[in-house]
Amino acid sequence: MRPAIDRRAFLTATAAGLILPVRPALARLWPGSGFTHGVASGDPAAGAITLWTRYASVTGAAATLKVEVAEDAGLTRIIARGEAVAGAETWGTAQARITGLPDGRWLWYRFTAPDGSQSTIGRTRTLPSGKLDQMKIAVLSCSNRPFGHFNAYAHAAARDDIDLVIHLGDYIYEYQPRVYPEVVMPGREILPADEIIMIDDYRQRYASYRADPALQAIHARFPMIAIWDDHEFANDTWKGGAQNHQDNEGVWNLRRDAAVKAHREWLMSPERPYQRYDFGNLLSVMTLDTRMTARDKQLDLNAALRGGPDAIKAFAGGEWQSPTRTILGSEQEAWFASEIAASVKSGQRWQLVAQQVVMGDIFTPKQAVEWLGPDADARAKAYVQGGLMAAQAGIPGAQDMWSGYPQARRRLLKAMADAGANPIVIAGDSHNAWAFNHRLDNKPVAAEFGVQSVTSPGYEQSLKADPAVIRGGLLQSSPGLAWCDTSRRGYLTLTFTPAETRCDFVFMETIQTVSTATSIGQAAVVKHGKRQMTLA
Ligand SMILES: [Fe+2]
Repeated sequence: MRPAIDRRAFLTATAAGLILPVRPALARLWPGSGFTHGVASGDPAAGAITLWTRYASVTGAAATLKVEVAEDAGLTRIIARGEAVAGAETWGTAQARITGLPDGRWLWYRFTAPDGSQSTIGRTRTLPSGKLDQMKIAVLSCSNRPFGHFNAYAHAAARDDIDLVIHLGDYIYEYQPRVYPEVVMPGREILPADEIIMIDDYRQRYASYRADPALQAIHARFPMIAIWDDHEFANDTWKGGAQNHQDNEGVWNLRRDAAVKAHREWLMSPERPYQRYDFGNLLSVMTLDTRMTARDKQLDLNAALRGGPDAIKAFAGGEWQSPTRTILGSEQEAWFASEIAASVKSGQRWQLVAQQVVMGDIFTPKQAVEWLGPDADARAKAYVQGGLMAAQAGIPGAQDMWSGYPQARRRLLKAMADAGANPIVIAGDSHNAWAFNHRLDNKPVAAEFGVQSVTSPGYEQSLKADPAVIRGGLLQSSPGLAWCDTSRRGYLTLTFTPAETRCDFVFMETIQTVSTATSIGQAAVVKHGKRQMTLA
């Protein structure tokens, strides 16, 4: 199915010019015509929402779609109409921004093509305004399709009590099939057959993920705010590149721009990747971009660890602690400080900081060497040994997370504290479930919940000890850590009321078969004004 174009020659040609790399005549490469990927909605505002579908005409010509918005599931009480063009320029994806809608109401919508064919019916909701007593958000991240079934999406999609979905990124993974994971679960194949680098590669990867019925179902039932993490670009993205971007894969900025364009086409992400969304007088959701906008390159802690005690000491007192080292950039930091203060001032009870990477520090404890399974490979052993050496020098191992940017983290926490906010931080990326209480200068500032992945494997892949034992060890070694689960997949929900925010971790029993069975979960509560959680 993939046209025979010399990949390297093409990359060289696009690197020489300043055009977005694009393969010709791929607009109709996804098999089939008509509405191929269901419907979705995103980028909500008071009275407005963006509606999405993908449509391919039989001839490949662009088609103007009509969309109707109604107050009822049967679409009898139409309150708004709009249009969207589905053509080769956006690979068939079409978006209609609908304005003038009522605030905070469930609405239903459907697209109609020029030939009269119709999409499935979707449900969505605009942002509420005024007094709001409760709001429930489902939070998901890290859904690597070849690793297993999207049971977490299916479980959330079937619920009646969720108002909004936030996806914290790693919605797709960029690797060539059979790299991560090395074995593709039957029925979980992905396209294209190579690592994704050019715009049509990214589009085709989104299309092969979105073909999943559970993913289509969650999009059809709830509006989604989707931010990107690294794998929407390439592993361990920073502002000037990524661990998984090599020179022979072309110019980074062109790959980055292609990835951004595809994300906008499939997930309706707004022009600026950090935004504030207000939900009545209850909650401001503030999204951040810790990846592409301004992140300084991750430091090479492993090199320091290989260099012995002096090199480790130099690392601990060097660039790592520099006040100029940044993960958000000064512009985004200033925006955050002013917006979180404005949110508090305008009376919002809670500030949800929705971002990519875990903010709390995780230190490897001594007993971690005993957690390795009998068949642990050299890489897993080196990982634990390295983590242990770093921890003994007071350095958390994960340099791709906020741990790698301690002064930038301090500035962010200070902005929260200075604003007098009631912040809840959420993070994805790590694949396991975490709960932290953040303090600054010995005062409570924020609670953080790290969501476990939909399918991507976590610590349990190399650590074979009882998860309760691992939790006990990590709780001892990591100040601020309140709870963790290092073994299970799923998602979490946050329920906001004026008095408290409750987090419920939902764990799926399996991703090996299609099932929405769950195992025992965990909950935590943050009382308003306390800025710390207690386990429930
Ligand atoms: Fe990630």
